[in-house]
Amino acid sequence: MDRIERVFKVTVGRAVGKPEAYRDLVASLTSLLDGETDSLANLANATALAFSTLPEINWCGVYVLRGEDLVLGPFQGKPACVRIPLGKGVCGTAAARRETVVVPDVLAFPGHIACDEASRSEIVVPILAGGRQRGVLDVDAPEKNRFDEEDRAGIEAFVAVLALRIDWDAV
Ligand code: SME
Repeated sequence: MDRIERVFKVTVGRAVGKPEAYRDLVASLTSLLDGETDSLANLANATALAFSTLPEINWCGVYVLRGEDLVLGPFQGKPACVRIPLGKGVCGTAAARRETVVVPDVLAFPGHIACDEASRSEIVVPILAGGRQRGVLDVDAPEKNRFDEEDRAGIEAFVAVLALRIDWDAV
């Protein structure tokens, strides 16, 4: 069994509670990034891991901060808008505030940027490495109220690993 098969074996197909499932996901991410330093490959695999593991989501990806814009990076899902200015949309709001934004109903969020019209709820977690803003992880779902406090804690833990383990100057 190769490394990726081992990684997926611990995250898929087990009836566990959400906190434990997120602990498995974060452990899988750490294992997936081990021994590889290429930032683009690692971000691509990280979004694929989250997208294939988290139930009931339709988009998952990274926007990287370049100057005053968030620019689309590795993602899974439908093609998305490429540039989001800081302060705009859910992504730009989370980045500008440097805090996670959970949107239970995207239609009720003023300024929400609709990339996939199927999206109904969304969570955006800023990526802060060494106190520096590097971008955001955005996860969208086709149902309202998809993300609760356990999702927030789990996805923030996932992003904390990315913040530490990715060489953001090489992205
Ligand atoms: N909805 C986001 C835009 C990115 S897409 O959802 C992939 C926003 O309002 O910032």
